[in-house]
Amino acid sequence: MADDSQKTFYLETFGCQMNAHDSEKVVGTLVSEGYRQVPTVEEAGLVLYNTCSIRDKAEQKVFNRLSDYKKFYKQGKRFGVLGCVAQQEGEKIFERAPHVSMVCGSASYRDLPQMLIQIEAGKQRVTGLDDRETDECFETEFTARTNPHRGYITIIEGCDKFCAYCVVPFTRGKERSRTSESVLAEARQMADLGYTEIQLLGQNVNSYKDPDCGSSGKKRTFAELLAAVGVVPGIRRVRFTTSHPRDFGRDIIDAIDAVPTLCDHVHLPVQSGSDRVLNAMQRLYTREQYLERISWMKAARRPISITSDVIVGFPGETEEDFAQTLALLDEVGYDAVFTFKYSPRPNTPSLALEDAIPDQEKSRRLEVLMARQREIQITRYKKYIGETLEVMVEGRNEARKQWIGRTSHNKTLNFSAPETSALQPGSYVNVRATQSFPNSLLGELVV
Ligand code: SAH
Ligand code: SF4
Ligand code: F3S
Repeated sequence: MADDSQKTFYLETFGCQMNAHDSEKVVGTLVSEGYRQVPTVEEAGLVLYNTCSIRDKAEQKVFNRLSDYKKFYKQGKRFGVLGCVAQQEGEKIFERAPHVSMVCGSASYRDLPQMLIQIEAGKQRVTGLDDRETDECFETEFTARTNPHRGYITIIEGCDKFCAYCVVPFTRGKERSRTSESVLAEARQMADLGYTEIQLLGQNVNSYKDPDCGSSGKKRTFAELLAAVGVVPGIRRVRFTTSHPRDFGRDIIDAIDAVPTLCDHVHLPVQSGSDRVLNAMQRLYTREQYLERISWMKAARRPISITSDVIVGFPGETEEDFAQTLALLDEVGYDAVFTFKYSPRPNTPSLALEDAIPDQEKSRRLEVLMARQREIQITRYKKYIGETLEVMVEGRNEARKQWIGRTSHNKTLNFSAPETSALQPGSYVNVRATQSFPNSLLGELVV
């Protein structure tokens, strides 16, 4: 590798928000070790991929990248695979891509500085693989957040739910929470730096369990932590994702009712509307229990925007099961649904089931589902026309001469403003919605 004055790295991130935020911490750690981040593989001495393994397609991406850039190994570039594919495949990655020098799962990122030293010393196969053993969370003072106004805080890592289709319990280790004191200290520090929006993260953010009483003398529940972050001076918006229906208590809605900074949006993945499929998926709740949680949200003081994830084509899903999922979409009235075709994954219990629904049929169900949801969104988004909503300014679309804003509901609201209004990204303004689309709103600045 190049000498110290030229230690450079390139990092590409795949997958969910947890990965995006891990990458911010990895970048911070590398920079504190004297590395400089560069925007292209060509410029970098060390090339890192923070990978996702949730579906087969996601996993294939990293192997495609690795084979595309293999030729650079001879020029001295070194390659590292981080994240969920790293933890899942482990040392097998060295067999499949022999030009890779480092394989490190998310539970081992605290060992990165020492792993980097080994790579610099010319070691060929450096690993950090922690097989569901660790109790520790990756806390670092060196987080390189990419947005100066809103930032993530991981409050709980890993997953113990073991849904039949899912790799996460195998790639992210066991469920472990940070202390609420440490989360609040980070939130205060971010507020001091000028952040106004915080998003609390976890695979199941609401399964949070405070491990320690700290100076407050009391362990906080998730709803209490949410409320405490919401009253940190300077914080104007708090979001949280992803919630698991089984652990979703009414106290979360009470907190949203009581603390105005808690955003009126809940992402609550349902996966299927059929009890038979939910049971086979080992999701730990019934359709009725899920809908009970939705009824709490609908009874909240502020209208809460609800979004979800759905899998189609899980082994054994019949037309009747699928029809129940469609009916559930109508009943809930989601503002967005992320839809996925079932993808069999290594280590998971459902791998033993025959993946009997042909890809073509999965695609058909996906299209039917998306079309139904589009109709629902057309109706739901129309209701905002004429309303004035507060948005955080996210940026400007010069081509359209529009500002890009985000509502507390997490909707995109693009808007026009007089030429003279000097808006700044990160500021909050009121916008009147004048037009609606299936995925966004259009409006005018209220002056
Ligand atoms: N912890 C969250 C979800 C994390 S994964 C929860 O429990 O809701 C994000 C989404 O990917 C899941 O909600 C699910 O819809 C989808 N997903 C996970 N495994 C999948 C698989 N094997 N095939 C297709 N979609 C999958
Ligand atoms: Fe995967 Fe289920 Fe855990 Fe979510 S709760 S991460 S879907 S195992
Ligand atoms: Fe993917 Fe790992 Fe997130 S599998 S979705 S990057 S937890």
